[in-house]
This record gives sequence, structure tokens and C-alpha cells, in this order.
Amino acid sequence: MLQIKFLDLAKQQKTIEKHLRFNLDKVLSESKFIMGPEVKKLESSLAEYTKASYCISCSSGTDALTLSLLALDIGIGDIVFCPSFTFPATAESILMVGATPVFVDVGKNTYNICYKNLLNAIEKCKKEKLRIKAIMPVDLYGLPANYNKINAIAKSFNLHVIADGAQSFGGIFRKNKVGNLTEITTTSFFPAKPLGCYGDGGAIFTRSLDIKEKLESLRAHGKGKGKYDINYMGMNARLDTIQAAVLLSKLEIFDWEIKERNRIAKIYSNELKSSFHIPEIPKDSVSAWAQYTIQSSKRDKVMSFLKDKNIPVMIYYPKPMHQQPAYKGFLLNKDLSKSSELSNNVFSIPIHPYLTDLEVEYIIENLKKANNLFL
Ligand SMILES: Cc1ncc(COP(=O)(O)O)c(C=O)c1O
Repeated sequence: MLQIKFLDLAKQQKTIEKHLRFNLDKVLSESKFIMGPEVKKLESSLAEYTKASYCISCSSGTDALTLSLLALDIGIGDIVFCPSFTFPATAESILMVGATPVFVDVGKNTYNICYKNLLNAIEKCKKEKLRIKAIMPVDLYGLPANYNKINAIAKSFNLHVIADGAQSFGGIFRKNKVGNLTEITTTSFFPAKPLGCYGDGGAIFTRSLDIKEKLESLRAHGKGKGKYDINYMGMNARLDTIQAAVLLSKLEIFDWEIKERNRIAKIYSNELKSSFHIPEIPKDSVSAWAQYTIQSSKRDKVMSFLKDKNIPVMIYYPKPMHQQPAYKGFLLNKDLSKSSELSNNVFSIPIHPYLTDLEVEYIIENLKKANNLFL
């Protein structure tokens, strides 16, 4: 029986080993572990890659969200709209700065924020004379949201946009890369992400020089011209030089990896579309395929069948944010039925660039078998 890995970082490491060891040796010999030259090099490489004007690296995807909110002066009494069906860090960052999240439902096929539900939530908050400040869409599973729609909604209500692109780095919407689709985009370099480092890491992309300069200050305690001139209440949230060196090595093969993820996703979608509810990718979009997620009302049975065949499967996410005990007090919008339904039905199958053709066939074959068994 094949033994399939959900993610194969060991194979990836073998592919980049020479480059990686060279980069790491350089960091060790230079010993500039905080804000060393690799950090600047990574920031300019990622700005060039995304065509965003600026990239500001930081300590995690969560901190990238918090720093962005702080940079926009969002805090106590301010409302930020975000999807309920997401990873907890999205809502957590809003609460951390003292603002209030208003959860919005998602689309059943793209898993991204539902624009109609968002408009309803905005109108409701306006009626209640609440101070609405920003939209925080999430590019779930790697698919960029429709930023034409989001930017237009934001403009008409005078809202900021902070795109949570933790899962979508490498994704494309209408010829533009994630990072260059809206006012501010954040991403995560958590090891399991499409572009991951060997620990925690993140980055923020923006077109605004003012925001870039404020973010550089905020990630280093809010420092001003001198290290001990404190202009803002900031954080200790820099990216380690070692992590930047790892990311520079992985960037060398990143385009190939995104292509491979897309090749495998296409095979999955063709083969599974008659048995499962597969993800919908709009015509002009490229997903970074952080996850390949399908839906089944017999999820538990299908998952246990697959596990018996040594095929690892995961649930992202078993509980939407509006049902989390910690966030239960924030229920201004109660129309969140899709988020609840998806949490009961979704599961993700392996999709990494190092899957062999044989493994992909084996996964498909067993999914079809499971579907026939538990119909
Ligand atoms: C949608 C989303 N937002 C934010 C984060 C937080 O990123 P990090 O783990 O780097 O803090 C994640 C990480 O899983 C995520 O998936």
C-alpha cells in the first residue's frame, strides 16, 4: 500500500539543498541574525515578484494582520468585516487591536467572502450607526477573492481593505498577483503554506509609501529616527534573517511548485467532479492551492476509508468563527448558514508539488471507491 504524505517538506528540501546550505552558511558566517542583508533581499525579491510597490517582512501571518490594522489606526470602537469560515488568526487580529469583527458568510463554491452578505452586513452596521472601518477578505485555500468587487464595495463605503492572503501567495486574479490586488495584503510563511519558511514568518504588501514606513516602524517597537525614539505603540515583529535565507532558496523553485499544484488540481477536478463537490476556480484566476478541498455529506465515513488506505486528510475548518466560544459575543450578522454547512462537510486531500502520478491516481481511485461505497 502506498504511504502518502499530506505535505512533503523533506523532498522539497532535497530539491533546494545546495542553495539552501549556501544561504544558511552565509547567515551563520555573517552573524547578522536580526535584519541581516537577506531580509532586505527577500523584501525586494517579493516586491518584484508580486509587482507590489513595497514588501515589509514580519514575524508571522498573524502579526502581519495586526500590524496592518495598527498602521491604519484601527482600534477600539471600529468595525472590521471578515469571513466566518477562516483560520482563527483573521478574527483574532481584529480583536487584538480592540476593534470588533463582524462575521460575513462565504460562497459555497469558491469559499471566499460572499459579496451580497457583505453588503447586507455593511448596511446593517450603518443603520446602527456603527463606525465601519475595513474589510478583511480571506483568500481561502489559495484562491484570490474577487478584488474588483471588494475594492468597489470598499470605495463606495469609504472602507480600507486588508487582504488576508496567508494561503494565497503565488495566486493570480485577472493577471495581477496576490500582493498587488488591493490597498494592503498580508501573507504567512508558516511551513505548510505555499511559500513556507522553517518556523514562523510573514509579510505585508502595499502600494503606499506612508503605510510602508509606518509598518517598518511598527514591527520594531514603533521606533522613529533613532532606535530609542518611539513614535507609535509597536511590536517586536521582525522576520529572522535565517528565515529570509530559507525563503530566498524556496523562491527559486516557487513558480515551478505553483505550476505543479495547478497541474495536480486540474487532474483532481476532472476526475472527481462527478463524485464530489469540487472547488470552483473563476476563469481569470489562478489558485496557489494551499489546499484542495472537497465536500461530502458523508465526510466522516469517506475520511476514515481514506485514512485506512494511508491517505492523509484534514478538515479546514471544523468550526466557523461565529461558533467559537471566544468569539461568540460578536454576532452582529447572523446570516452565516454556508459557513456552518461547510464546516460540517469540507475536507482537504494532499496537494503538494512532490506527489507522484501514481500517488495522485491512488488518491483519486480511493476517493471514487469511497464515494460508491457511501453514496
Ligand atoms: C487565513 C489565515 N490567516 C492567517 C493565518 C496566520 O498565519 P501565521 O500562522 O503565519 O500566523 C493563517 C495561518 O494558517 C491563515 O490560514
